[in-house]
Amino acid sequence: MRKQIIAANFKMNKTDEDIKKYFAVFLDLINGLKNRSNLSGLDSDLIFAPPFTSLSGTNKIIKTCRDFIKLSSQNVYYEKSGAYTGEISIDMLASCGCEYTIIGHSERRNIFNESDELIGKKIEAVYKDGRLRPILCVGENLEVRKNDGQEKFVENQLLNALKYVKGTVIKSLIVAYEPVWAIGTGMPIKAEDGEAMHRYIYDYLESGYSISETRVIYGGSVTEKNIEEIMDKPHIDGVLVGGASLDPQSFYNIFRLASNIN
Ligand code: PGA
Repeated sequence: MRKQIIAANFKMNKTDEDIKKYFAVFLDLINGLKNRSNLSGLDSDLIFAPPFTSLSGTNKIIKTCRDFIKLSSQNVYYEKSGAYTGEISIDMLASCGCEYTIIGHSERRNIFNESDELIGKKIEAVYKDGRLRPILCVGENLEVRKNDGQEKFVENQLLNALKYVKGTVIKSLIVAYEPVWAIGTGMPIKAEDGEAMHRYIYDYLESGYSISETRVIYGGSVTEKNIEEIMDKPHIDGVLVGGASLDPQSFYNIFRLASNIN
Protein backbone atom coordinates (compact mmCIF):
# COMPACT_ATOMS: atom_id res chain seq x y z
CA MET A 1 0.00 0.00 0.00
CA ARG A 2 1.19 3.52 -0.81
CA LYS A 3 1.86 5.82 2.13
CA GLN A 4 -0.74 8.58 2.38
CA ILE A 5 0.08 12.26 2.50
CA ILE A 6 -2.15 14.67 4.39
CA ALA A 7 -0.83 18.20 3.84
CA ALA A 8 -1.88 21.59 5.21
CA ASN A 9 -1.26 24.70 3.12
CA PHE A 10 -1.70 27.72 5.38
CA LYS A 11 -1.14 30.14 2.46
CA MET A 12 -0.76 33.78 3.69
CA ASN A 13 -2.41 33.10 7.03
CA LYS A 14 -1.19 33.03 10.65
CA THR A 15 1.48 34.94 12.51
CA ASP A 16 4.09 33.13 14.59
CA GLU A 17 1.90 33.65 17.65
CA ASP A 18 -1.12 32.12 15.84
CA ILE A 19 0.99 29.13 14.85
CA LYS A 20 2.02 28.49 18.46
CA LYS A 21 -1.63 28.52 19.51
CA TYR A 22 -2.56 26.26 16.60
CA PHE A 23 -0.01 23.61 17.50
CA ALA A 24 -0.82 23.77 21.20
CA VAL A 25 -4.28 22.48 20.22
CA PHE A 26 -3.20 20.22 17.36
CA LEU A 27 -0.44 18.41 19.24
CA ASP A 28 -2.73 17.95 22.22
CA LEU A 29 -5.18 16.15 19.93
CA ILE A 30 -2.38 14.06 18.42
CA ASN A 31 -1.05 13.13 21.86
CA GLY A 32 -4.54 12.09 22.90
CA LEU A 33 -4.61 9.87 19.85
CA LYS A 34 -1.19 8.44 20.68
CA ASN A 35 -2.53 7.39 24.08
CA ARG A 36 -5.42 5.56 22.43
CA SER A 37 -3.85 4.02 19.34
CA ASN A 38 -0.45 2.96 18.21
CA LEU A 39 0.66 5.58 15.70
CA SER A 40 4.02 4.00 14.98
CA GLY A 41 2.62 1.83 12.21
CA LEU A 42 0.71 4.74 10.77
CA ASP A 43 0.63 4.86 7.01
CA SER A 44 0.31 8.63 6.69
CA ASP A 45 2.68 11.55 6.62
CA LEU A 46 1.34 14.84 7.91
CA ILE A 47 2.87 17.86 6.23
CA PHE A 48 2.52 21.51 7.23
CA ALA A 49 3.30 24.42 4.91
CA PRO A 50 3.18 27.55 7.07
CA PRO A 51 4.35 30.97 5.82
CA PHE A 52 8.14 31.42 5.52
CA THR A 53 8.17 33.49 8.73
CA SER A 54 7.04 30.49 10.76
CA LEU A 55 9.13 27.71 9.24
CA SER A 56 11.84 27.81 11.93
CA GLY A 57 9.31 28.18 14.74
CA THR A 58 7.18 25.31 13.43
CA ASN A 59 10.29 23.17 13.04
CA LYS A 60 11.01 23.57 16.75
CA ILE A 61 7.41 22.90 17.74
CA ILE A 62 7.12 19.63 15.78
CA LYS A 63 10.53 18.22 16.70
CA THR A 64 9.12 15.53 19.00
CA CYS A 65 6.80 14.28 16.23
CA ARG A 66 9.33 14.39 13.40
CA ASP A 67 8.66 10.75 12.53
CA PHE A 68 5.32 11.61 10.99
CA ILE A 69 4.94 15.40 10.98
CA LYS A 70 7.00 17.10 8.25
CA LEU A 71 7.61 20.66 7.16
CA SER A 72 7.11 22.16 3.71
CA SER A 73 7.54 25.60 2.20
CA GLN A 74 4.86 27.09 -0.04
CA ASN A 75 7.38 28.16 -2.67
CA VAL A 76 11.11 28.14 -3.55
CA TYR A 77 13.42 29.86 -6.03
CA TYR A 78 15.83 27.97 -8.26
CA GLU A 79 18.98 30.09 -7.80
CA LYS A 80 21.32 29.27 -4.91
CA SER A 81 21.77 32.87 -3.68
CA GLY A 82 22.15 36.41 -4.96
CA ALA A 83 20.22 39.53 -5.90
CA TYR A 84 16.69 38.08 -5.96
CA THR A 85 14.77 40.34 -3.59
CA GLY A 86 11.88 38.60 -1.91
CA GLU A 87 12.86 35.07 -2.97
CA ILE A 88 13.98 32.08 -0.90
CA SER A 89 16.56 29.38 -1.67
CA ILE A 90 16.65 25.63 -1.16
CA ASP A 91 19.53 26.10 1.33
CA MET A 92 17.46 28.51 3.42
CA LEU A 93 14.51 26.14 3.46
CA ALA A 94 16.59 23.06 4.26
CA SER A 95 18.25 24.93 7.13
CA CYS A 96 14.78 25.59 8.62
CA GLY A 97 14.00 21.88 8.62
CA CYS A 98 11.95 21.77 5.41
CA GLU A 99 11.75 18.40 3.72
CA TYR A 100 9.14 19.36 1.11
CA THR A 101 8.33 22.35 -1.05
CA ILE A 102 5.17 23.24 -2.92
CA ILE A 103 5.92 24.28 -6.50
CA GLY A 104 3.55 25.80 -9.06
CA HIS A 105 0.50 26.32 -6.87
CA SER A 106 -2.31 27.79 -9.00
CA GLU A 107 -2.21 30.98 -6.92
CA ARG A 108 1.47 31.38 -7.86
CA ARG A 109 0.66 30.66 -11.49
CA ASN A 110 -2.42 32.89 -11.74
CA ILE A 111 -1.83 35.79 -9.31
CA PHE A 112 1.96 36.01 -9.62
CA ASN A 113 2.21 34.95 -13.26
CA GLU A 114 4.58 32.05 -12.67
CA SER A 115 5.23 30.44 -16.03
CA ASP A 116 5.65 26.79 -16.93
CA GLU A 117 9.28 27.65 -17.70
CA LEU A 118 9.91 29.01 -14.20
CA ILE A 119 8.18 26.02 -12.61
CA GLY A 120 10.34 23.69 -14.74
CA LYS A 121 13.49 25.42 -13.46
CA LYS A 122 12.34 25.14 -9.86
CA ILE A 123 11.68 21.42 -10.25
CA GLU A 124 15.09 20.99 -11.90
CA ALA A 125 16.86 22.83 -9.05
CA VAL A 126 15.06 20.85 -6.36
CA TYR A 127 15.93 17.53 -8.05
CA LYS A 128 19.58 18.50 -8.55
CA ASP A 129 19.88 19.49 -4.91
CA GLY A 130 18.06 16.44 -3.58
CA ARG A 131 17.13 17.66 -0.09
CA LEU A 132 13.52 18.75 -0.72
CA ARG A 133 10.72 16.63 -2.06
CA PRO A 134 8.63 18.62 -4.57
CA ILE A 135 4.85 18.88 -4.30
CA LEU A 136 4.07 19.92 -7.86
CA CYS A 137 0.62 21.48 -8.27
CA VAL A 138 -1.30 21.05 -11.51
CA GLY A 139 -4.94 21.56 -12.43
CA GLU A 140 -7.26 23.04 -15.01
CA ASN A 141 -9.56 26.07 -14.77
CA LEU A 142 -13.32 25.93 -15.22
CA GLU A 143 -13.21 26.86 -18.90
CA VAL A 144 -10.94 23.91 -19.67
CA ARG A 145 -13.08 21.54 -17.60
CA LYS A 146 -16.27 22.68 -19.36
CA ASN A 147 -14.65 21.80 -22.67
CA ASP A 148 -13.47 18.46 -21.29
CA GLY A 149 -9.84 19.45 -21.90
CA GLN A 150 -8.54 18.70 -18.39
CA GLU A 151 -6.46 15.63 -19.29
CA LYS A 152 -4.42 17.28 -22.05
CA PHE A 153 -4.12 20.48 -20.00
CA VAL A 154 -2.67 18.71 -16.98
CA GLU A 155 -0.49 16.49 -19.17
CA ASN A 156 1.00 19.63 -20.67
CA GLN A 157 1.66 21.13 -17.23
CA LEU A 158 3.43 17.92 -16.18
CA LEU A 159 5.45 17.79 -19.39
CA ASN A 160 6.65 21.37 -18.91
CA ALA A 161 7.34 21.01 -15.20
CA LEU A 162 9.50 17.92 -15.76
CA LYS A 163 11.23 18.97 -18.95
CA TYR A 164 14.58 19.82 -17.31
CA VAL A 165 14.68 16.75 -15.10
CA LYS A 166 17.57 14.57 -16.26
CA GLY A 167 16.80 10.92 -16.89
CA THR A 168 13.55 9.21 -16.10
CA VAL A 169 13.79 8.77 -12.35
CA ILE A 170 11.25 11.00 -10.62
CA LYS A 171 10.55 8.67 -7.77
CA SER A 172 10.18 11.31 -5.05
CA LEU A 173 7.69 13.47 -6.93
CA ILE A 174 4.38 14.34 -5.32
CA VAL A 175 1.80 15.66 -7.76
CA ALA A 176 -1.05 17.68 -6.23
CA TYR A 177 -3.97 17.66 -8.64
CA GLU A 178 -5.86 20.83 -7.75
CA PRO A 179 -8.54 21.90 -10.23
CA VAL A 180 -8.56 25.69 -9.99
CA TRP A 181 -12.37 25.83 -9.92
CA ALA A 182 -12.42 23.68 -6.78
CA ILE A 183 -9.87 25.69 -4.75
CA GLY A 184 -11.46 27.73 -1.97
CA THR A 185 -14.91 27.51 -3.59
CA GLY A 186 -16.57 24.90 -1.40
CA MET A 187 -17.12 22.86 -4.61
CA PRO A 188 -14.80 19.86 -4.47
CA ILE A 189 -14.46 17.56 -7.44
CA LYS A 190 -16.75 14.51 -7.49
CA ALA A 191 -14.68 11.67 -6.09
CA GLU A 192 -15.08 9.58 -9.28
CA ASP A 193 -13.94 12.49 -11.48
CA GLY A 194 -10.96 12.98 -9.16
CA GLU A 195 -10.13 9.28 -9.42
CA ALA A 196 -10.27 9.48 -13.23
CA MET A 197 -7.78 12.38 -13.30
CA HIS A 198 -5.47 10.75 -10.79
CA ARG A 199 -5.45 7.56 -12.83
CA TYR A 200 -4.69 9.61 -15.93
CA ILE A 201 -1.78 11.34 -14.17
CA TYR A 202 -0.42 8.00 -12.97
CA ASP A 203 -0.68 6.50 -16.47
CA TYR A 204 1.03 9.53 -18.01
CA LEU A 205 3.90 9.46 -15.52
CA GLU A 206 4.29 5.70 -15.69
CA SER A 207 4.61 5.82 -19.47
CA GLY A 208 7.74 7.98 -19.29
CA TYR A 209 9.29 7.71 -15.85
CA SER A 210 10.23 5.44 -13.02
CA ILE A 211 7.81 6.51 -10.31
CA SER A 212 8.24 4.04 -7.47
CA GLU A 213 7.67 6.60 -4.69
CA THR A 214 5.49 9.04 -6.59
CA ARG A 215 2.24 10.09 -4.96
CA VAL A 216 -0.73 11.86 -6.52
CA ILE A 217 -2.74 13.85 -3.99
CA TYR A 218 -5.90 15.92 -4.42
CA GLY A 219 -6.57 19.54 -3.41
CA GLY A 220 -9.63 21.76 -3.66
CA SER A 221 -12.27 22.30 -0.96
CA VAL A 222 -11.34 19.20 1.04
CA THR A 223 -13.15 19.13 4.41
CA GLU A 224 -13.94 16.62 7.13
CA LYS A 225 -17.28 16.05 5.35
CA ASN A 226 -15.82 14.85 2.04
CA ILE A 227 -12.44 13.41 3.05
CA GLU A 228 -13.58 9.80 3.41
CA GLU A 229 -15.21 9.69 -0.01
CA ILE A 230 -12.14 11.22 -1.62
CA MET A 231 -9.66 8.94 0.15
CA ASP A 232 -11.73 5.90 -0.75
CA LYS A 233 -10.46 6.11 -4.33
CA PRO A 234 -7.47 3.89 -5.14
CA HIS A 235 -5.43 6.47 -7.08
CA ILE A 236 -5.92 9.31 -4.59
CA ASP A 237 -2.95 9.06 -2.23
CA GLY A 238 -3.75 11.98 0.00
CA VAL A 239 -4.87 15.58 0.12
CA LEU A 240 -3.55 19.13 0.13
CA VAL A 241 -5.88 21.16 2.33
CA GLY A 242 -6.12 24.95 2.39
CA GLY A 243 -9.07 26.56 4.17
CA ALA A 244 -10.01 23.55 6.32
CA SER A 245 -6.44 23.18 7.59
CA LEU A 246 -6.52 26.57 9.32
CA ASP A 247 -8.55 25.25 12.21
CA PRO A 248 -6.59 22.63 14.21
CA GLN A 249 -9.66 20.61 15.16
CA SER A 250 -10.88 20.41 11.53
CA PHE A 251 -7.49 19.44 10.20
CA TYR A 252 -7.07 16.85 12.94
CA ASN A 253 -10.48 15.40 12.00
CA ILE A 254 -9.44 15.26 8.34
CA PHE A 255 -6.21 13.48 9.30
CA ARG A 256 -8.01 11.02 11.55
CA LEU A 257 -10.73 10.18 9.03
CA ALA A 258 -8.20 9.89 6.17
CA SER A 259 -6.05 7.54 8.26
CA ASN A 260 -8.98 5.42 9.43
CA ILE A 261 -8.25 6.06 13.10
CA ASN A 262 -11.28 6.00 15.38
P1 PGA B 1 -8.72 24.84 -0.32
O1 PGA B 1 -7.24 25.10 -0.94
O2 PGA B 1 -8.65 23.58 0.50
O3 PGA B 1 -8.99 26.07 0.51
O4 PGA B 1 -9.66 24.70 -1.47
C1 PGA B 1 -6.46 24.05 -1.42
C2 PGA B 1 -5.14 24.56 -1.97
O5 PGA B 1 -5.13 25.64 -2.58
O6 PGA B 1 -4.09 23.91 -1.82
